[in-house]
Amino acid sequence: MKKSDIDAILDKIDKENSIFKNKAALDVLRTPKRIIGRNKEVENLVRFLASYKQGTIPPFVSVYGRSGSGKSTLVRFVCESLDGVALCFVNLRGAKTIFECANLILSELGAEALPSAKGLGAVISAIKDVIASYLQEAKKQVIVLALDEFDMIFYDKRNKPSDFVYKLVVLCEQLKEKNYQMCIIGISNNVVSEYDLDERVRSRIGNSEVYFPAYGYDETLEILQMCAKEAFNEINDSILQYCAKLSSRDHGDARRAIDLLRVGAEIAGAKNQALSTKHVDQAYTKLQNDRISEIMSRFTPQFRYVCGAIVYLSYIMELELIHTSKIYDEYKLITPKKSQLTHRRISEILNDIENTGMLTSQTHSRGRHGYGKQYKLMFSPDLIGPALDTKSWDDLVAMKKQMEKSGQREKLRKDVVKIFNAFAHGRVPNMTNIGWNIPNKDTTNSDLGNKDYK
Ligand SMILES: Nc1ncnc2c1ncn2[C@@H]1O[C@H](COP(=O)(O)OP(=O)(O)O)[C@@H](O)[C@H]1O
Ligand SMILES: [Mg+2]
Repeated sequence: MKKSDIDAILDKIDKENSIFKNKAALDVLRTPKRIIGRNKEVENLVRFLASYKQGTIPPFVSVYGRSGSGKSTLVRFVCESLDGVALCFVNLRGAKTIFECANLILSELGAEALPSAKGLGAVISAIKDVIASYLQEAKKQVIVLALDEFDMIFYDKRNKPSDFVYKLVVLCEQLKEKNYQMCIIGISNNVVSEYDLDERVRSRIGNSEVYFPAYGYDETLEILQMCAKEAFNEINDSILQYCAKLSSRDHGDARRAIDLLRVGAEIAGAKNQALSTKHVDQAYTKLQNDRISEIMSRFTPQFRYVCGAIVYLSYIMELELIHTSKIYDEYKLITPKKSQLTHRRISEILNDIENTGMLTSQTHSRGRHGYGKQYKLMFSPDLIGPALDTKSWDDLVAMKKQMEKSGQREKLRKDVVKIFNAFAHGRVPNMTNIGWNIPNKDTTNSDLGNKDYK
């Protein structure tokens, strides 16, 4: 290869990008120029924080909602707009342990991380000293410690998340003795009270919460219009409307709506064509496939069993909303007995799968049996099935065709259960004939991976 070949590649990339006026306007990591809507959420947050003027700032505020609902952007925007308030914004995503979370906070405050031999208490105490001297220097009385992706602390199964939160809240109290105020904002998908925390922590953190619902059509369109205005010389509003329609129907995630527009334009640009809804459709499929592969790569065998059960129920049984207990029954049919987890653990796994965006749930009343959850797949089973295992998926498709042709759904259904039963009882060594290609050993190191495989 010669330098001129590199130049030719660069030329080609330039040509492809000429569809954009300023592609950076579609960069979802960038702070948006303007905040669209979210008046109620902003007001709620400001009310909590502004109570510092009465000396009653809450020690902990839980900001929660689906991904792409604007949580990180809005927390930053609100805190940066409050003149008397200092902000330390830390994303905990990169931390594997609670100790690393504490060290990330320390690093964000400009201090050096401590070695693990020092223990959590030493890091928290260092955080307190750094904050006190920072506030003194900045001549401010109030600091917000925003902990983004706060749910990371609950993935550390060896240490106690309650202890960490407790120590942070005590830190707020100690700062108060020095006439400083601190509010911790935990940003996560679920409200913090749903996580497993000790009673002593719960009573201390109270229940100050701000919920971010998913975006509807109008807000998604407005966000896209704002980005598109900067990103393109001209763009037909009907394309933005189309992106907003797909996004609000599926997930209400502003990040993914912007991605859809960007990838659609990239596909059009690569073909040297004007952007049309056809390109958006192609982008939609591409993004869904990318997303499913990414999610699957983090799935342990247990997650795959659960996923296989749901795909089976929605594809073969054509169920749309599926009760936890139905999923659990199917899971038990397809999972070898010695590997079967409890109903409770499967409910937790379903919750984790929901957090990946692959499922949504709704709560339903079961009369005197209390409340239960029903799940719905967010992707078509014919995208998830092949990602689990192509061969098994092909078998399942063939079986469904046969069912439809013979009109013997129930009979074949029984055959399927028999085969799954055979797997469940370990009479067939692997699941590639009809079930799912499930590896026997957990090969992932991710957090999803660490916590469930037995
Ligand atoms: N209300 C909004 N106005 C403008 N842009 C927004 C708004 N909400 C989200 N965005 C954009 O969508 C993307 C995702 O938002 P983010 O705050 O990261 O969501 P979350 O933290 O809930 O996952 C960001 O790139 C942001 O620019
Ligand atoms: Mg975020």
